[in-house]
Order: sequence, then C-alpha cells, then structure tokens
Amino acid sequence: MNGKRSGWLIAAACLVSLAAPAAQADDLPKLKEKPTYKVGFAQTESNNPWRLAQTQSMKDEAAKRGWQLVYTDANSSAAKQVADVDSMIAQHVDVIFLSPREEKPLIPAVMKAKKAGIPLFLIDRSVDPTLAKAGRDYVSFIGSDFVEEGRRAGEWLVKTTGGTAKIIELQGTSGSSPANDRRKGFMEVISKSPGMQVVASQDGDFTRDKGRQVMETLLQAHPEATAVFAHNDEMALGAITALEAAGRHPGKDITLVSIDGEKDGLQAIIDGKMGATVECNPRFGPGAYQAAADYAAGKKIEPIVVNQDHFYDSSNAAQSLAGSY
Ligand code: AHR
Repeated sequence: MNGKRSGWLIAAACLVSLAAPAAQADDLPKLKEKPTYKVGFAQTESNNPWRLAQTQSMKDEAAKRGWQLVYTDANSSAAKQVADVDSMIAQHVDVIFLSPREEKPLIPAVMKAKKAGIPLFLIDRSVDPTLAKAGRDYVSFIGSDFVEEGRRAGEWLVKTTGGTAKIIELQGTSGSSPANDRRKGFMEVISKSPGMQVVASQDGDFTRDKGRQVMETLLQAHPEATAVFAHNDEMALGAITALEAAGRHPGKDITLVSIDGEKDGLQAIIDGKMGATVECNPRFGPGAYQAAADYAAGKKIEPIVVNQDHFYDSSNAAQSLAGSY
C-alpha cells in the first residue's frame, strides 16, 4: 500500500528511470565537458514553500559545484517564463533547467533552446508530450510521477473513508502537468469505488489563499462534503482555514488528503487536521546538476527520470518534521 511503496533515498540517488531506454536524437544539442558551467534555471513562481525549497536547492548545488547560475522567476506568468528562457539563450548559458508553469505555453521555450543549440532539462513539471518529446526536443524530464501521486492520495482516501466520501477537489494551476496528472491518477483510483464521489472541483492555483477562497465558495454550495483532495499542501491549509471559519472540524467531520510534504502540511497532520500527504520532493539541485554533468561526459541519460517520494501520515509526520521545508 502507500506506506510500503514509499522509499527513502538521498537526493542524488533518488532518481530512477520509469521509461524504457530510448535513443537520444542525433540533433539534440550537446554539452561540452568543462571544469565549470554557466547554467540557467527558469523558475515558475516563488509564492509557496515548495518553490522556495526548489530554488534553494538549485542555488546551493550551483554554489557547491562552483557553477554560475542565471536564475529567473516568472512570477506566475507563462509568457514571462518564455521571455526568461529567451534571455538565457541570449546570455549563452551552457544548459537550461526549466520548471514549466503550464504544459502548452512553454513549448516555444523548449524549441527555441533546441534551435539555439542549448541542451535543456525539464525539472519538476513537464510540457505537452504530444508537442515536445524528451530525448528528441529536450534532454530529459526529471521529476515526480504526478499520476502516481494522485493514485496514492486516492488509495489512502478510499481506505480511510471505507470507500464512501463526498469529495471537494482543489486543483492546481489549470494547464499545468501536476494539476492534469494528479487529477487523472486520483480519478482513476476513486472511480473503482461507487461510493466515492467528487461533488465539486475547482482551480486553486496551488496557493494557500486561493485554496481558502475556493474552499469557502465550494463549501457553501456543498455543505454535505466529507472529504477534500487538494493538489498541494498550501491549498489544503487554506481549506482548513475555510472549514474552521465555517464551523467544521477538519480531521474529525471532514477528511483531508494532499500532496507535497511541506513543514506546515506535516504540522497539520500532527495536529490531527489533515490525514495524509504524498511527498513531492522539491530538492532537485543534486540530481539535476549531476544529470547535466553526466550528459557532458557522454553518459546515457534516460529521457524520463522519476523521483522516489515518501508518504506522510500520523505514523511518521512528527519524525519527518525537522527535515521538511
Ligand atoms: O509542480 C509541483 C507543484 O508545484 C507542487 O506540488 C506545488 O506545491 C508547486 O507549486
């Protein structure tokens, strides 16, 4: 079950390949082996602890290796993120790491990097695979399996509720790969239990305050809700605020499950307000930079490299708190 499936591996080692090895296209930009690199990291936004932890990990690892980092923050704008990648290309970075805000609008950025001869790695989020392919248009995708995260949340909820729940779903940023895939995995699992019903579902943009606002609205329309599936901890925490303001008792008369494993999320589990959260590890620095170094050294890079994530509930949240972000 969920707990058994989670593994513990340190950052650089916590990468395994899901996909069967695929040949890299000959026209993929190459990376020369050098003592140091100028790398670009195009972040999508900095409005939650997960993003801050990801950025810190990328900065720390660059400093550790003595690599120069060109860092940009798209401030939740896909258009700005495309422009940020343009600017990295103009600055002749050696390699680009991109966490694309949404699946389709960032395709031009991927294609422009390829045309400019700069190898690009997608980290954390992906782009539409029908429009750009790992191993052909960019070197590799490194990140969590978002569909599996949704499945694990769904499995926990089915087990905990005995297969009967009226669920409010707080979705992540519309058009992003985690929102699309977490929903897909969750629905795949709960659709096998006739008693599990999503009564309302809305975009909360992965933020605490939007999660709170959306929950307030959806709760008014669906006071019969007995469970919440939030696509990240921040929205779950916003939902807890909205529920308490409405006189509900999270963890007692309504069950919450979420994704990420941030410090406040773990604390909510310890406090008995949230039931469980599926880890989505934001610490990409060591694995991403090592993948670039390996690519430069001519080693085979798998097109899809999947992080192995934990699962947190009341059995392990307290002991995991100190190491969280
Ligand atoms: O892409 C990963 C998701 O993005 C995390 O779950 C969320 O917290 C972040 O904004």
